[in-house]
Amino acid sequence: MALRLAYCGLGLSDVDAWSRFGIGALGMMADDRGDLRRLRIDDRAWRFALHPGSEDDIRYAGFECEDLAELASRRDTLVAAGIICTDLEEAERAERQIEAGFRLCDPDGLRIELVVGHEAAAAQFHSDLTQGFCTGDQGLGHIVLTIVDLDRGIQFYEKLGFALSDFITVPMGPASLRIAFMHCNARHHSLAIAALPGGKRLNHIMVEVEQVDEVLLGHRRCVEQGYTTGGIGRHPNDQMLSFYVQTPAGFDVEYGWGGREIHGEWDVAEYDHISIWGHERAA
Ligand SMILES: [Fe+2]
Repeated sequence: MALRLAYCGLGLSDVDAWSRFGIGALGMMADDRGDLRRLRIDDRAWRFALHPGSEDDIRYAGFECEDLAELASRRDTLVAAGIICTDLEEAERAERQIEAGFRLCDPDGLRIELVVGHEAAAAQFHSDLTQGFCTGDQGLGHIVLTIVDLDRGIQFYEKLGFALSDFITVPMGPASLRIAFMHCNARHHSLAIAALPGGKRLNHIMVEVEQVDEVLLGHRRCVEQGYTTGGIGRHPNDQMLSFYVQTPAGFDVEYGWGGREIHGEWDVAEYDHISIWGHERAA
């Protein structure tokens, strides 16, 4: 049984600016539903919903199960652990374009949805800027969230169906920053959590392109279009070649290629650096 990151809802003070960024800099594709602006990166109906709002942060994340039986079994496990699960209403299911699902809150109040039957789009994905993103069984990418209590966060996400991948611990001021990376399918991590600075729940979203050249081309586009863009680099744990760019909402997108996969036996490692090389912060 595996989960996949199916979609993210973002609350944005400037929906137009974020949409322009997603399409014009990252190679996403618009697919609005009524008044709701949405972006695609593959054959799914949508992956990012751009809700008008003042928070400039993540509003919800949806993880997809294989089928209704798995959804029910995960719900039973969570309820038995004392976690409140609430079925999604018909209007919510219609907006998300899913067959069934329920919602719950993570320890710091972020709305998480477990769903099945996330619909495919009517039209093929097309972008002039990219040949495509790596999604499928690995979901749309990963999200990195700020959490107050790391151990409590790990316990919660383990109950949800995640397993630890590894940790990175680095000095931060007089203290240290410890990041837990967690997987729920072959993608090295679909989620990372840490007590990160920035005041938002969402530190960054990672999307992975299929061609290495597209990381360099994406980097060039982000710089040319005036976005605050860090250097290209490679991480030691997921071995992703990537760069970070600040989105118009303040949180980042990581644009990567070549992420490591987890199959079978896995030892949880400890790292003391975030990058093997590069990832210089934007000036
Ligand atoms: Fe990342």
